Formats: sequence, C-alpha cells, structure tokens
Amino acid sequence: MSTASDPPPLRIRAYGDIAAPEPLRRQVEAILLVSANPRRVAAEPSQAAFLDRWLTPYLADYPEQLLLALDEEQEGRVLGVLTGCPDSLGAEVFRDLHPYYRLFADLHSDYPAHFHINCHPDHRSRGVGSRLVRHFVTLCRGAGLPGVHLVTAPGVRNVGFYRRNGFSDAVERGESGRSYLFLGQRLVAGV
Ligand SMILES: CC(C)(COP(=O)(O)OP(=O)(O)OC[C@H]1O[C@@H](n2cnc3c(N)ncnc32)[C@H](O)[C@@H]1OP(=O)(O)O)[C@@H](O)C(=O)NCCC(=O)NCCS
Repeated sequence: MSTASDPPPLRIRAYGDIAAPEPLRRQVEAILLVSANPRRVAAEPSQAAFLDRWLTPYLADYPEQLLLALDEEQEGRVLGVLTGCPDSLGAEVFRDLHPYYRLFADLHSDYPAHFHINCHPDHRSRGVGSRLVRHFVTLCRGAGLPGVHLVTAPGVRNVGFYRRNGFSDAVERGESGRSYLFLGQRLVAGV
C-alpha cells in the first residue's frame, strides 16, 4: 500500500513536447500562484502581471526547458513545474524581470543555466522537486553547459533541498536591503 510520503509515479515532460498543452498551462499557473512567496504575488499589480514575470518568458522562449512533473496515475495532472533557461547571459528579457539578475551577472558565464521550481502544496517532500531538478541538470549537462544556478534567500527551507541536489557553490549578496543567495552547480560532461 502506498502512503502520502511515497514518491508518486510520475513522468517528466517538456511543455514544448506536449501536443495540446493549454489545460496543463492553467495548472502550471495555479501552482505558481499558490506556491510563490505571497509577497512576490502581492508586489505585482495583478496575478496576470505576476505570471508575465515568472512564466510567460519561459513559455515563449524556453518551452523545451519548461519541465512538468505529470502524475502517471491521473493523466493530465501536474504535480510540479520547473521553468528553466539555458542561457542567462544571453536572455536579456530577465534583466528587467528579476531584480537580482544583474547582481549575479558576473557568475552567469560559469553557471549559464538558471531555473525556478514550484511543486503543488499537496505533493511536497515526496521527491517530485528532486526529480525535476535532476532532469533539468541532465538536460544542461547533455547540452554541454558548464553549470546551472538558482537564486533564493539565505536561511529559507528550500536551501537544504537545493544543497541536497548538488547546488553547493554559494554566493550571498544584498541589494536594496534584501539578501539573495546564489547556488550553483558545476557540470562535467558525461558524468
Ligand atoms: C522547494 C520545492 C520545489 C521542493 O520540492 P519537493 O518535491 O517538496 O522536494 P523533495 O521532496 O525532493 O525534497 C524535500 C525538501 O524540499 C523542501 N521543501 C519541502 N516543502 C517546502 C516548502 N513548503 N517550502 C520550501 N521548501 C520546501 C525541503 O528542503 C524538503 O526537505 P526537508 O523536508 O528535509 O526540509 C517545493 O517544496 C516547493 O514548491 N516549495 C515552495 C516553493 C519554493 O520554495 N520554491 C523554490 C523557490 S527558490
């Protein structure tokens, strides 16, 4: 008998590979809105503006790196979402969208890929997020990229999650009274 803490049977698929993704997109939006830091949502003039910042560029420009964890038992149910970008330096769109983007720009050539990740609140701590991250790291390694990074805040719970998933190169910086934590992972081809 399976329990709530067992890893659910799931399949990772890229949004760009799905033939009719619209119903999934609505689930993706709902997961982002429910699991984001409420301050981030409240800082935007509307939910649509929040999604324009955190989802639209990834949908438009990186659908192959927008990864969905899909429940294999309930077809079409999204358990978690990873929005990825393989080229943080070249993707100028993020310069104005993410306040910390410029703060760590000097590290982008060593760790060119970045991502954000959100899992449905009912399916956390069951390995879904780790599966998504491992899949993205494998994609980046396969593409020959030298590193991957994400930015979070020092001292928050997800830091342990990222460190357990291999993001051990930490750089902390501050801007406008806020502290940001860059976590990077170097990639070696074929490993
Ligand atoms: C962080 C997150 C993506 C991890 O996915 P997951 O499927 O729960 O992860 P796993 O089961 O592989 O690993 C469990 C770890 O995830 C982290 N985690 C679980 N629930 C979390 C939550 N509500 N908030 C932050 N981190 C959480 C913890 O580090 C946890 O380990 P712990 O129980 O020992 O503290 C997911 O919990 C989530 O969406 N959290 C809220 C949004 C968030 O923090 N996103 C990252 C923004 S930088």
